[in-house]
Amino acid sequence: MIEINDVSKEYIMGDNSLLALNKVSIKIDNGEFISIMGASGSGKSTLMNIIGCLDIPSSGNYNFNKKDISKFNSNQLAELRNNEIGFVFQNFNLLPRLSALENVTLPLMYSGKSPKNRNDLAIKALEEVGLKDRIHHRPNQLSGGQQQRVSIARAIAGTPNIILADEPTGALDSKTSSEIMKILKLLNNKKITIILVTHEQDIALYGERIINMKDGMIIEDKKNVIN
Ligand SMILES: Nc1ncnc2c1ncn2[C@@H]1O[C@H](COP(=O)(O)OP(=O)(O)O)[C@@H](O)[C@H]1O
Ligand SMILES: [Mg+2]
Repeated sequence: MIEINDVSKEYIMGDNSLLALNKVSIKIDNGEFISIMGASGSGKSTLMNIIGCLDIPSSGNYNFNKKDISKFNSNQLAELRNNEIGFVFQNFNLLPRLSALENVTLPLMYSGKSPKNRNDLAIKALEEVGLKDRIHHRPNQLSGGQQQRVSIARAIAGTPNIILADEPTGALDSKTSSEIMKILKLLNNKKITIILVTHEQDIALYGERIINMKDGMIIEDKKNVIN
């Protein structure tokens, strides 16, 4: 469970400072599917980076499973990320020279699992996203939707409890986008918490709860009645 209280994030550049997050508070229960919307620059990615422990708040606190992680050092944060969180990005972030299988296996190197075990987990994850017959393809031999599925496989191979997806359909056409969203929905049905950033209304509607951000603040937090 995620509990963020009065978190602010200030970026200082020379004489200028910019408040990317302004006293944001949010509570996210295990198994939720949340969509975060808001104009470009409203602080969505900053919030995701903080939730994902890729960045730390300037002020406020963050409890992850009831532990105050503002006191964690970088090793503890990395361990928490590895065990709990999978990331999916707009531009897939796959390594071009590696096959789908190698891309999915790579982050498991830090898990302490045996090579055989890592390979099995990666193949299982690729099967789960429907890419069993593409495991030896490199990213440039795959379509955009297939590349995003590889990146979802990479996110789930380490069996995380949470997936953070920052505009995962931003580079995809609408048919491919709905295929990706169906995969995320299936993962959510398996109790994985999904936190999704999107600026597309129809994509946001996959979430059970929709949050709207503006100027570094949450201006709306509502249940999606359609879902
Ligand atoms: N590393 C950074 N350094 C300075 N300013 C940043 C940095 N990252 C984001 N910002 C600024 O913080 C604000 C929020 O950015 P961001 O969270 O990326 O918004 P969104 O994802 O909603 O488009 C923007 O004004 C952006 O320019
Ligand atoms: Mg962003």
